[in-house]
Amino acid sequence: MSKKILAVYFTQSGQLGDIIDHFTKPLESFPDTVVEKVRIYPAKPFPFPWTSPLFFNAMPESVDGVPTALEPFTFKEAQYDLIILGYQPWFLSPSIPAGSLLRHLSFKAVLNNTPVVTISGCRNMWINAQEKVKNLLKEAGANLVGNIALVDRHNNYTSLVTILYWMLTGKKDRKWGLFPKPGVSDEDIVNSAIFGETVKMHLQKNEWSGLQTRLQEQHAVNVRYSLMFIERKAGRIFTIWSKIINKSKKRSALLVAFKYYLLIALCIAAPIILLVDAIFFKPFLGKRIKKQKEYYAGVTLK
Ligand SMILES: Cc1cc2nc3c(=O)[nH]c(=O)nc-3n(C[C@H](O)[C@H](O)[C@H](O)COP(=O)(O)O)c2cc1C
Repeated sequence: MSKKILAVYFTQSGQLGDIIDHFTKPLESFPDTVVEKVRIYPAKPFPFPWTSPLFFNAMPESVDGVPTALEPFTFKEAQYDLIILGYQPWFLSPSIPAGSLLRHLSFKAVLNNTPVVTISGCRNMWINAQEKVKNLLKEAGANLVGNIALVDRHNNYTSLVTILYWMLTGKKDRKWGLFPKPGVSDEDIVNSAIFGETVKMHLQKNEWSGLQTRLQEQHAVNVRYSLMFIERKAGRIFTIWSKIINKSKKRSALLVAFKYYLLIALCIAAPIILLVDAIFFKPFLGKRIKKQKEYYAGVTLK
């Protein structure tokens, strides 16, 4: 029986488009399978490269999930055998275009009663965003069967420097010839075809149970304790900041304050809090941490 797959995504630099292309290659080689790729665009484009003020200006609406208008898009079918959603986190939330897509009536219509695989390409913090995506998919009546999270594997501080360089210059190359290349590595992008193969096996059988377990075995998701710890705390704090900024008339000044807060929180406060946690709490919370990691690596919703 022929299979219809929709792969829908937003990308600024093209990174997520490359990921989608490699990931869907094995699915395209499946007989009688049509992979329809749809790239979405906001009606009012976000800048790329970004300026620093505009970059931080995207925080409140990303965190609060305020949708923006999208350029008109159409899907060829009313129903698909599988939908692949490619998205990127912005400020620990789905990017504004991805969040707008998930709230769009035409997309919600095709999502209803349909298996969905999510695939993200980010710096390294995707857990909060994925929880929000899980909720939005549930609201649309979709059935999340798999998740793949591709990250920059360099350490948290190196990737912070390199992503800011990439986002603010538009160049995905080595800063000063010294730093590593920003973003998801070329090798990981090409290797996402392996996950496409796994999805293909499940599509062939039309059996989705066990897909995420297989993807986990292939390291399609990797929940790192320190990042999970930071994200869980930061997610709540970002929500407070976004509410205050959205209500205030001093938006620009507050966004500057948020920028410095974020840099201090990440570079100074987080290492201290992590050290305190490593000494006083983590050693006694092994079971709870294991459960949390398993939960975030999975596709169920609490
Ligand atoms: C405004 C903004 C906020 C971002 N916030 C995060 C984040 O919270 N976590 C993360 O891992 N990456 C973050 N990133 C990186 C993106 O998830 C993504 O990897 C990058 O923008 C490249 O995606 P592209 O395919 O759209 O070019 C952010 C990028 C932008 C532009």
